[in-house]
Amino acid sequence: MTRDEIKALVRTVPDFPAKGILFRDVTTLIRHGDGFAACIAHLARMAEAAGAEVIAGMEARGFIFGAAVAAHMRLGFVPVRKPGKLPVRTVGIDYALEYGRDRLEIDPGAIDKGARVVIVDDLIATGGTALAATELLRGAGARVDHALFVIDLPDLHGAERLRGAGVSVEALMD
Ligand code: PRP
Ligand code: ADE
Repeated sequence: MTRDEIKALVRTVPDFPAKGILFRDVTTLIRHGDGFAACIAHLARMAEAAGAEVIAGMEARGFIFGAAVAAHMRLGFVPVRKPGKLPVRTVGIDYALEYGRDRLEIDPGAIDKGARVVIVDDLIATGGTALAATELLRGAGARVDHALFVIDLPDLHGAERLRGAGVSVEALMD
């Protein structure tokens, strides 16, 4: 399945979760078996080219794609979680979203020092989420040079922000 065919499976919902936001909904993509599998195969090829040793994904939609990519590659998956969910002492960071604020946390013991971690999420908008994840993972000793997304919203310049932090960004579609 081509990237354009995968793109056609993403649903656009206006004014969600707030007026003026064009929400790019991947639930219509992941409920399509061939579309989801093709998407994971594309992302896994990109992660392999990036030399991934570990995949990290951000709650919640990053878990869907990141965990599937990790299993496809037989690599481990590190969850970057919303606050208060991990049962150990965590490190966390607050960040701004296209439509609000949030916080992410990781288990600092989840990362081997110097491990080459590739970030996977469904979408990059302002880049706040991926930058926060990068900072957390690097703080825990990871090498984070690559982040992969199903969708980039280029008007929000998240990819540029990430590149400014030394993270190369690739997405299956704009
Ligand atoms: C969405 C999306 C990305 C993030 C992108 O997650 O899945 O993680 O926003 O936005 P940014 O580039 O401006 O940071 P959201 O926080 O809505 O949470 P969800 O995955 O729980 O739906
Ligand atoms: N996360 C941030 N902005 C988004 C958008 N426009 N659609 C879906 N998820 C998003």
